[in-house]
Amino acid sequence: MGASPSFPVVSLPRERIVVVTGGNTGIGYETAKHIAMMGATVIIACRSEQRATDAIKRMNEDYEQIKAHGKLEEGHINEDKLPVEFMKLDLASLKSTMDFIEAFKSSGRKLHVLLCNAGLAATEREITDDGYELHFQVNYLGHFLIVAHLLPIMKTSGDDCRIVFTSSLAHKFARFNLDKAQAKNPSDFNNLRFYGNSKLYQIQHMFSLLRRQHGEHVTVTSFHPGAVGTELARDYTRRRFYSVLMGAMSALRITRTPFQGAVTLVDAAVNPAKKGLNGVYLVDCKPASMSNDARNEKYQEELWTYTLECLKQYLPEDVLSALGGPSS
Ligand SMILES: NC(=O)c1ccc[n+]([C@@H]2O[C@H](COP(=O)([O-])OP(=O)(O)OC[C@H]3O[C@@H](n4cnc5c(N)ncnc54)[C@H](OP(=O)(O)O)[C@@H]3O)[C@@H](O)[C@H]2O)c1
Repeated sequence: MGASPSFPVVSLPRERIVVVTGGNTGIGYETAKHIAMMGATVIIACRSEQRATDAIKRMNEDYEQIKAHGKLEEGHINEDKLPVEFMKLDLASLKSTMDFIEAFKSSGRKLHVLLCNAGLAATEREITDDGYELHFQVNYLGHFLIVAHLLPIMKTSGDDCRIVFTSSLAHKFARFNLDKAQAKNPSDFNNLRFYGNSKLYQIQHMFSLLRRQHGEHVTVTSFHPGAVGTELARDYTRRRFYSVLMGAMSALRITRTPFQGAVTLVDAAVNPAKKGLNGVYLVDCKPASMSNDARNEKYQEELWTYTLECLKQYLPEDVLSALGGPSS
């Protein structure tokens, strides 16, 4: 057995801007807090202002405890408050996603690190107001739209910019079939498979993006955090079987804590040794194997074309051309 994975604590300038989608709880919460403790400005992009505000308060309380117990490390800031901010983002709505994008653009800020972390695991088939299956839109499509619009900012934000997708081992249980991607026929819906599909799409997105990057300094990686005891299974815990299963896994310490689940994400975001690392799926901070579907270039390109069609109303010509045309 190797040592537990960990990330280095590095001193980050306040001007380094990090966006964490879904930073108000779980893996995103721990990630946002630990990166802010290193000094960077962290923006948690969340659907609920109340939950985000509460989370920022809790982060500062955690930080106070760390300081009070003398646990600050070299590289941590020693200040009154953590540099964490909130921006509104509901990935289940393309309008809200565009509002977030426009608000970020009009702030005139740079963007160095984009952590596409928010996600859900629903038990029932649900179609958003935009007409897409919920996992597809929240876990994948909304993040695609953000990347498409904010990549030009990242490309001019200086050296060592990074995008990280929070994927999952569940991508290995996916079945790539875009004809059924929206579960138009309700009998096509299978909760675990649709969750897995959305996590597969994130890895495919990583590859398609990189094919169009042509040596730019924005790196793109993905990772699996392990089985983590977070609120992800909140829908499932309403079902007795899952509730018992999760309780047993937690008691047997099969599940990781949110902090342990965040380690690979923080490492991918800040570790100087990961500078320039591209196109990998990390598990415990190390490149790991992906499914054949994830690596299948034809599938990746089919998804890319399909996605551009889904988002055509939201991707003007300048954004499309900056994103890169057909892969070369
Ligand atoms: N936990 C695991 O075992 C595990 C394993 C593999 C991968 N992952 C992935 O890890 C990521 C983080 O999940 P977690 O385990 O930390 O779960 P979590 O505690 O439920 O956190 C998920 C985050 O996503 C946000 N979110 C959900 N729907 C959203 C929407 N429509 N718009 C914006 N934000 C939304 C949630 O916001 P609210 O609080 O407002 O709902 C929350 O901040 C997810 O992508 C998940 O798929 C988790």
